[in-house]
Amino acid sequence: MDAYEAIVTKRDTREYEQRPIEPDALRRIVQAARMAGSSKNAQPIRLVLVTDPEIKQRLAGCGDFTQHLPQSPMVAVVVRLGDSRPFDAGRVAQNMMVAARAEGVASCPVGIQHDECARQLLSLPPEAIVAMAITLGYPVPGTAGGRGDQRIQLDQFVYQQTWDGHRGL
Ligand SMILES: Cc1cc2nc3c(=O)[nH]c(=O)nc-3n(C[C@H](O)[C@H](O)[C@H](O)COP(=O)(O)O)c2cc1C
Repeated sequence: MDAYEAIVTKRDTREYEQRPIEPDALRRIVQAARMAGSSKNAQPIRLVLVTDPEIKQRLAGCGDFTQHLPQSPMVAVVVRLGDSRPFDAGRVAQNMMVAARAEGVASCPVGIQHDECARQLLSLPPEAIVAMAITLGYPVPGTAGGRGDQRIQLDQFVYQQTWDGHRGL
């Protein structure tokens, strides 16, 4: 699967097989995350990989839309340090999810709205901000893989030159 196909076919998937992610695949996924560029190359993002059932269960309580999180084989918690920007975390997370897709591993971003809850649970340093949790696992065969959400059309998405210029490509 090439990069374009991995990107455009990736759907946020919430049903996984219970088997763990293969170690070689996990290493490539994490390497892809690590290689994301960051502002001034400050590299302010860290990952906490959670497979422990009790920690996953409690982490689900730190977010508002986390129903599938406890049943996910792995949760990668994306942590922002220092004067990081949300974009830094987004690059790491998307690299990880696209690389995972290419390895046949499905994923879904999950918001962790209650920062202090996650900070305490994961023993994070006080300045840490939880950008996102990413659930990961092999998709259940035969399931849709995503809710079938549509994307806006190109003529709604792209503006040429100025906001009141031609739209689309
Ligand atoms: C910033 C962000 C936060 C999200 N939070 C959650 C969440 O808390 N729980 C969840 O199940 N999905 C969450 N999602 C997944 C979205 O629902 C998903 O990206 C969207 O519905 C498109 O799904 P699709 O790729 O399957 O078409 C989140 C996605 C993003 C980008």
